[in-house]
Amino acid sequence: MCGIVGAAAARNITPTLLDGLRRLEYRGYDSAGLAVVDGKGQLSLRRSVGRVASLTAIADQVDGHVGIAHTRWATHGRPAENNAHPHTSSSQVAVVHNGIIENHQELRARQIEQGFPFSSETDTEVIVHQIDWHMQQGLGLLAAVQATVSELRGAYGLGVVSKLEPDTLIAARSGSPLLIGLGEHENFIASDMSALIPVSNRYMVMEDGDIAKITSTSVEIFDLNGQPVERKVIISHLSDEETELEGYAHYMKKEIHEQTRAITETLEGRLGADSVLELPFGDNAREIFDRTKEVKIIACGTSYYAASVARYWFEEFGIKCDVEIASEYRYRKHVVNPGTLFMTISQSGETLDTMAALEMAKTMGYSNTLCICNVPESSLVRASDLTIFTHAGREIGVASTKAFTTQLVTLLMVAICLRRRRLGDGRTIDAMETEIVNELRTLPQQIENVLSLEDQIIVMSKHFGDKEHALFLGRGAHFPIAMEGALKLKEISYIHAEAYAAGELKHGPLALIDEDMPVVAVAPNDELLEKLKSNLEEVRARGGKLFVFADAESGLRSDDQVMVLNVAPVNNFIAPILYVVPLQLLAYHVALLKGTDIDKPRNLAKSVTVE
Ligand code: G6P
Repeated sequence: MCGIVGAAAARNITPTLLDGLRRLEYRGYDSAGLAVVDGKGQLSLRRSVGRVASLTAIADQVDGHVGIAHTRWATHGRPAENNAHPHTSSSQVAVVHNGIIENHQELRARQIEQGFPFSSETDTEVIVHQIDWHMQQGLGLLAAVQATVSELRGAYGLGVVSKLEPDTLIAARSGSPLLIGLGEHENFIASDMSALIPVSNRYMVMEDGDIAKITSTSVEIFDLNGQPVERKVIISHLSDEETELEGYAHYMKKEIHEQTRAITETLEGRLGADSVLELPFGDNAREIFDRTKEVKIIACGTSYYAASVARYWFEEFGIKCDVEIASEYRYRKHVVNPGTLFMTISQSGETLDTMAALEMAKTMGYSNTLCICNVPESSLVRASDLTIFTHAGREIGVASTKAFTTQLVTLLMVAICLRRRRLGDGRTIDAMETEIVNELRTLPQQIENVLSLEDQIIVMSKHFGDKEHALFLGRGAHFPIAMEGALKLKEISYIHAEAYAAGELKHGPLALIDEDMPVVAVAPNDELLEKLKSNLEEVRARGGKLFVFADAESGLRSDDQVMVLNVAPVNNFIAPILYVVPLQLLAYHVALLKGTDIDKPRNLAKSVTVE
């Protein structure tokens, strides 16, 4: 999704802006640009469609001390140079913007009457003309931005520069994340701290309504009423190490293989000899769990599938659990039972729909809010009563892998804690908890064993290279795992993939079965195995080709219609966490065959900060 970098420094900041944009590439974008107040006091503007490398080719000669830069993920207006940010007005002011301005049409109509020429189809262009208009009425840059944002409806993270105030960078935030990075005789803005790794490890998080005036030597922040406000300085622990490919061809492959370590770190310090420990979750965790009678989980994308798996665990443990997609939850009425814990799950902690759902939930009588998140500095973390972190490390591939499995591990630990309360005093540990804890402890090794099946998965992937569709089947907690497998395949290989609860096959999708429709099934050795086997027979009888990830003791064998890949026997509770790994590898290797841009699939973004 769109990314912002800006800088005010005593040195030429173009290399820093371009480097920052490169670091934001993982978020997904389709065009890029920068505007710098150059040595002659003019605005130098460079924009291009495609990768930051294309922008670098036309911008690396630009020289100046104050500037803004942007990667754009198209919302209003197609990916094109004229729609790329920054946008300018009268060659005096330049703006980069994340978010969506809802009243752009009425502002545009007024500005056209005022004589402003429009050169883009974006909602953003009205912001820059409005600032320009206020400056023409005699306001300074800060005051002009203050006046402008008071007229905007919608979400924005803004970086603004003007040749009339060549030493100043203005930043404003409402609903779209924006940080101020602090350096020595230089200061920065960014939508994501990873853009600033080489230049700053101290930063402030702008809050909604904040407007900041930044120079190379000063940072002043004002609230919506123009009153000065202080924001806490935070130390960032992000490092370049996490962003190296370390010999892997793609981040996605690296991240799939990092799952052993990521799960180990997520479990670290949270498992006692025979139970899940609660204290490491936070001082108030015990109190919040004590109050919880049921659970509502809201998320988007892969995080939603993690929630959907967890629902089986919670309800198996006798805790009512309801799961919903954030963008749906936001726009309907709700009945909230007393003692319901509102849980959000998010890798980035910045997904706008999830964040908006949380803000709405806070007014609705939930007992508490809990967030499961991978990014400590994120908006969701700051807005929740309690956060339990997944220690996945930075995830760069747009298709989520290690974030998903660490979310599952964390959700299982939370489910165990709530189960203990349902069964008794919240302190007594029973044999089942001990059994699951022991399984969790061996999970990293079990993941390692599944990863060693990669060569067989490569062979399997060759059957998908020429296919246009694929069907994924699962039952129980493996139905959402099948959905996640289908999502991975469609995201990165562009093969249309759908998942069905295997029992639903005969209610429609069976009509699609022929030799061109590969059917992938997840078949652990659980109480649903025999039922699943019947569903697989239904496919076989119609000439379908099956690719089955099955428990070695399932009795399923390969033949000319079925390719079975055996997974070592595993405990039922842990099984979904394990079975998603071969599906991730399958998607990766099919995409590799198809030659797609695996880490940055077309049209997709890592962090979705618009509605
Ligand atoms: C985007 C990403 C997905 C992610 C989803 C939710 O669509 O491409 O990988 O699952 O957003 O993101 P979150 O950060 O809230 O988990």
